[in-house]
Amino acid sequence: MSTELKKAAKLLRDSKYTIVFTGAGISVESGIPPFRGEGGLWDQYDPIVLDLNYFLQNPESSWQALGELFYGPYGDAKPNEAHYALARLEKQGLIKSIITQNIDNLHQEAGSQNVYEFHGTLQTLVCLDCGAKYLAKEINFDKIPPRCSKDKGILKPNVILFGEAIPEEAASQSAIEAMKADVILVIGTTGEVMPACMIPYQAQENGATIIEINPNKSNYTDSITDVFLQGKATEMMKVLEVDLLS
Ligand code: APR
Repeated sequence: MSTELKKAAKLLRDSKYTIVFTGAGISVESGIPPFRGEGGLWDQYDPIVLDLNYFLQNPESSWQALGELFYGPYGDAKPNEAHYALARLEKQGLIKSIITQNIDNLHQEAGSQNVYEFHGTLQTLVCLDCGAKYLAKEINFDKIPPRCSKDKGILKPNVILFGEAIPEEAASQSAIEAMKADVILVIGTTGEVMPACMIPYQAQENGATIIEINPNKSNYTDSITDVFLQGKATEMMKVLEVDLLS
């Protein structure tokens, strides 16, 4: 076991309040491409398709991309061993919460209980006209944009589009978690997107030690990361869990 991994395992074992901050990278081994970097979705799609104003003005085109990006092949993705390891560590009391930028629900499907979805979720949709709420599993995505069965209004997934406000509950709870943390485990994120990317900085300002898992360097690595575990989420979580539960 490398010195860095030994350091990370000791920090996690001795910590009083560890939180986890995850990005698209933790779901790559579930078959969902990241947004940036190798095979990134933003190489195939213009991020404008996830912009709120664009969605409101061009619902058909935005929904075409939303369907392909999230409700199509990737909609059947399953949690991977990194998601499951985090859920087991939560059960052991070794991690207290997960703040995720992901909208794929894979942390919850893996069994994690305390999950704050900073960018919302694909699991529910809302009618832009009457506000009626829908579960994704009750919608036929063959017809896009999906419409409200009550007033034919266009449905919008409860994901936070660019230019949309972060859900108050997720924002305030995440800030509280970042204040309480003495260790934050950052997994699979470039640290590019505001205001989500500020969470590790907030934790650090409150004295937290930062452990980062990523095969590549991120905006955090050479600035605030204390222990950099260079590698894939499943590989690093497997080694950490074996040590923590031994
Ligand atoms: N294990 C861990 N990390 C990985 C893996 C892996 N197997 N594969 C790739 N990564 C890392 C990449 O090195 C990269 O740092 O995951 C990160 C993915 O970065 P992004 O695609 O930018 O994802 P993220 O940081 O979550 O993006 C933030 O941007 O487009 C918006 O709303 C979207 O929530 C998203 C936000």
